[in-house]
This record gives sequence, structure tokens and C-alpha cells, in this order.
Amino acid sequence: LDNGLALTPTMGWLHWERFMCNTDCDADPHNCISEKLYMEMADAMVKDGWKDAGYEYVCIDDCWPSRDRDSEGRLQADPKRFPGGIKKLADYMHSKGLKLGIYADVGTMTCAGYPGSLGHYDTDAQTFAEWGVDLLKFDGCNMPNWTLLAGGYINMSVALNKTGRSILYSCEWPLYEWQFHQPNYTAIRQTCNHWRNSADVFDSWSSVTGIVDWTADHQDLIVPVAGPGGWNDPDMLVIGNFGLSRDQQETQMALWAIMAAPLLMSNDLRAIDPQSQRLLQNRHIIAISQDPLGKQGTRKAKVNGFEVWQRPLSTGGLALAVTNRQEIGGPRHFPLTLATVLVWRSCYHQCNVTQILPQYRELGVQNLFSKLQLSVNPTGTTLLLLSPVPAMSCTRLQ
Ligand code: DGJ
Repeated sequence: LDNGLALTPTMGWLHWERFMCNTDCDADPHNCISEKLYMEMADAMVKDGWKDAGYEYVCIDDCWPSRDRDSEGRLQADPKRFPGGIKKLADYMHSKGLKLGIYADVGTMTCAGYPGSLGHYDTDAQTFAEWGVDLLKFDGCNMPNWTLLAGGYINMSVALNKTGRSILYSCEWPLYEWQFHQPNYTAIRQTCNHWRNSADVFDSWSSVTGIVDWTADHQDLIVPVAGPGGWNDPDMLVIGNFGLSRDQQETQMALWAIMAAPLLMSNDLRAIDPQSQRLLQNRHIIAISQDPLGKQGTRKAKVNGFEVWQRPLSTGGLALAVTNRQEIGGPRHFPLTLATVLVWRSCYHQCNVTQILPQYRELGVQNLFSKLQLSVNPTGTTLLLLSPVPAMSCTRLQ
């Protein structure tokens, strides 16, 4: 969507995977969906370096509204859990240099049964704009007929535009349309700043690999439409929770950067372990994610239980990830012959190679004949950055 937003993939935090629809603030005041949760997350974002690393949007998901609209037909936040209302929360975010995201649904009800926006698109867009909201995640549950999905998502896009406020538009249109037919990605890109294609992420390795495999299997269709202003969204980062090993967390981070995915964490920033924090704040990986060329990477090869992923970068170089998909045994060697990964189209005859994961290491200038012996843990990833060597020091091979 050409609204000047999401020129690089969105970075922030979204409550759903970690906090779901926990509305029981009496029994669980620390984790329930309430204004306190977002304010505490915002405080942590500023205090612990998340904002400085680039994470900007604090996003509400399902279960924030009251069960009923107000007397004028407007959505309203649950008064007990959001006593200050959404406007106050937006002001709070803005005072900290952050942005606020909210959630609504294209159909009659949200997935969790709260009021949907069908029949109220203009009113809801206007309400969000008046509150000072900066992002809308628009879910796709409870549409009376799937043929209405496209129109619903387009009408909300128009309604947001009419408010005159810059509101980033995050869609789930293709996810809900895939159940019936292949979505029109050209229209989706014109309408949304990012769009979910595949199933909800869970806090598990099988969930992460399911999403990665879906993306690779559909890359010919979905990669060409991604770019500044519009991104494929493989769902939240679950790093810092309970289900992924250290290697698996590194794989999610590396592949989300290669896939030019929004980096929306769903975890508890008030109590996150230092390793996960370092990984999520790794500036080299974030630089790949936010590369201004905005080209989504692809899976280039599947060989002997390894996957090789590549993303072209604005430097003329590449980010390259080698994932060991074998879930048995120990670390395995992957002989990376640079000539085979088509580096040479971008890097000419030599490349400066930096390893970013699992540890940062300068691997120096490598040439067409270099063989790098990578050792990759089961379910782990080696992430490399290949940068062209300035022409002066290039020797041309005859
Ligand atoms: C389905 C979406 O895909 C999830 O990300 C989340 O928003 C839930 N609905 C909320 O009900």
C-alpha cells in the first residue's frame, strides 16, 4: 500500500501469541489484556534498548473492546481493563516516542467474539484516527461469505485513508481467502502494508517450520509482490518464550530477516532472558531485515537436510542463511562453495564474508574458489553477510 508507511518491515511488539485472550484481571492482573500490560511493555521497550534497536509499535490484538458499541455505534475499550481508554494509551506511547497498534475484524465479530467492524468501517476508522492510533491489524473471522473478504479489506483501507491520519494497515486477507481460492496478491499489495498468508504462529519449532515451509513452497507467487510499503507477514517472533531452543530461536530470527518479515515480537519484555534479548536486538540481523532495497529473500536450495536461503541487499551483496533441518544427531558440516551460491553476480569475483550467527566472526575476503566449512547445529542456522569488495581491490580473472 503506497501510504508512505512500512517502507521497511514493521518492528514492534504484538500481544497475541504470548498473552492471547486473557481478560481475567482479578486472577491474573500482571498478564491480562489491560492498559497496564501495554504501558509496562512500552516502559520496557524504552528502558531496555528495544526502541533504540528499532522496535517501535506496541500493538493490541483481540479482546480489548467492550462487548457492546456505545450509544453512537462506536467501538469502546473494556472500561474495567482500560479505564483511561485507548486515546490515553496512544498519548502514552507517543510521549515515549513509540506508536500504538490496535486490532479489529472485517466480519461481524472478532475471532474471540468481540464486536466486528462489518457495517462500521468508516465509523471504526474514524474512531481509531481520533484516538491517535498508528496501526490497525484487521482480522478476517466471521465474514458471512468469503466472497465479501476482498471488498471488506479494500473498504477499510479506503476508510483509513479518508481519516487523513497515517495508519499502517496490517491485513489477514490472504490467510482467510486461501481456504477457498488463490488470493489476488496484486490487489492485496495495493490495499495493505502487510498481510498474513499462513497459519497462526505457536510457541513451537513445528509451528515455525510449518510457516517457513509454506513460505518457501509459495515463494514464486508471494515474493515478487513484497517490497517497500507491502510485506508478506509470517506472523510474530516467539523468541524469548518457552517453546524454541536457542538454535531454533536463531533460525527464526535469521529467516524472518531473510524473508523481509515484520518483526513483531510476542513475548514478555518485562522478564526476558538476556540471550533472547541479545538475539532480538542483534543490529546486524536487524540491518538485514531493514535493508532499504526491500527485496524479500528466497529458499535457493534444499540439499542433504540443509536449506540455503538468500536475500539480496542494497550493498549489492547478499544475506545467506544455511539451516540444518535435521532434528537428529549433532552439528553437521555444510561445505559452502561460494561459486555455487551465485554470489558472484553481486560480489563480482571476491566477497567480504561476515558470519553473524551463531557468533559474529569476520571470515575475510573470499573468492570464487573458496570453500567455507560451516558447522550447523540441528535446527540451527549459520547466517552470513556477503559484501562486495570495493572495485579497487578486485582482481579481474581472465
Ligand atoms: C487469528 C489471528 O490470525 C491471530 O493472529 C489473532 O489475531 C487471533 N485471530 C485473535 O483472535
